[in-house]
Amino acid sequence: MSRLLVLALALGGAAAFAPAAAPRAAATLAATTKDSLSTKYDPTAGANAAVAANNKGDAWIPQMQRPRRNRKSAGVRAMVRENFLTPANLMQPIFIHEDSDEVVPIASMPGQSRHTLDSMVKEVEAGMALGVKSFILFPKVPDDLKTNFADACYDPEGIVPRALRLIKSKCPDAMVCTDIALDPYSDQGHDGIVLDGKIVNDMTIEQLCKQAVCHAEAGADFVGPSDMMDGRVGAIRMALDAEGHTDVGIISYSAKYASAFYGPFRDALDSHPGFGDKKTYQQDPANGREALIEASLDAAEGADMLMVKPGVPYLDVLYRIRETVDLPLAAYHVSGEYAMIKAAAEKGWVDERAIVLETLMCFRRAGADVILTYYAKDAATWMNDEGNVCL
Ligand code: PBG
Repeated sequence: MSRLLVLALALGGAAAFAPAAAPRAAATLAATTKDSLSTKYDPTAGANAAVAANNKGDAWIPQMQRPRRNRKSAGVRAMVRENFLTPANLMQPIFIHEDSDEVVPIASMPGQSRHTLDSMVKEVEAGMALGVKSFILFPKVPDDLKTNFADACYDPEGIVPRALRLIKSKCPDAMVCTDIALDPYSDQGHDGIVLDGKIVNDMTIEQLCKQAVCHAEAGADFVGPSDMMDGRVGAIRMALDAEGHTDVGIISYSAKYASAFYGPFRDALDSHPGFGDKKTYQQDPANGREALIEASLDAAEGADMLMVKPGVPYLDVLYRIRETVDLPLAAYHVSGEYAMIKAAAEKGWVDERAIVLETLMCFRRAGADVILTYYAKDAATWMNDEGNVCL
């Protein structure tokens, strides 16, 4: 229906409710405003007056449906609120490293650091105390451990398995997820093995299966394949099951786009692609339907949750997947999105607290059950201040 037609119908409908000859009392507004603001046009005059008058002579628009009634007070708004955000919906990413005993701030992500294993445990404890119950680990791996085949990714004594065992021993109730992809361990800076300048799919999956089983053995609750190889969810499910890890879940990065919003994350892990870009495996930002193909494949292959990434620019993708898949969905509010809010907030251009809580709520409205965000701890603190009622 054209916009004009809709407008015509709306006006026609309104006219039907309008009293035939509304008493044209002196317009309330005119009576209460300064006469100096005179204009030739009077909205209350004429056969098609825009503003009618009620029995009391006050300005009245013949409008029966008034959505503002359900917004008139904090009490009403709280009663009819459609979505809720709690700290338990948030998953906190934690960067870990062993280059030194220092907690190293990440320049392009103010407030975020590469943690030592000790400070990682403190992060988990702090998150848990605020009601954030889930965490995802991202390791920075020293260059001398990186190879094309990324074999360090399944070393049971590698940083991630040791971190998992430590968290599980200190905070057994924390829900811990790991990233499954080769890039932190790849001397090519790619998520898969590179042969003849190409990222090879099925050989990479062999490594991903070893990595997933290694993490499961060290105590991961969920593994999160972020590599975008075809068929990896099914293969990882088979690998986990074959090794007796039927209770370890898969949060699949189903719709992961080749995005410039990952820049600060790659600074954090020193994992920028060594050559080219990631466009032969991560999705084209121009495509929406393609995400539905990825999502239905991952669901059919046995994923327990699906993820969309990045976040805000891809809320339409999240919503489309929500409409077609009934699995829980996660959205990743990625490093570039975090950095942008931080930068504007540092300049005093936006209200950081308000903008973050609004952003996270918008993820929920679009269909996310879980939100991965570097703001997890801050947002949980703010939500707790407000009695967990946001906005
Ligand atoms: C690695 C991975 C990336 C992110 C999560 N896992 C980077 C990439 O694909 O290059 C990005 C997260 C963020 O930007 O916050 N496979």
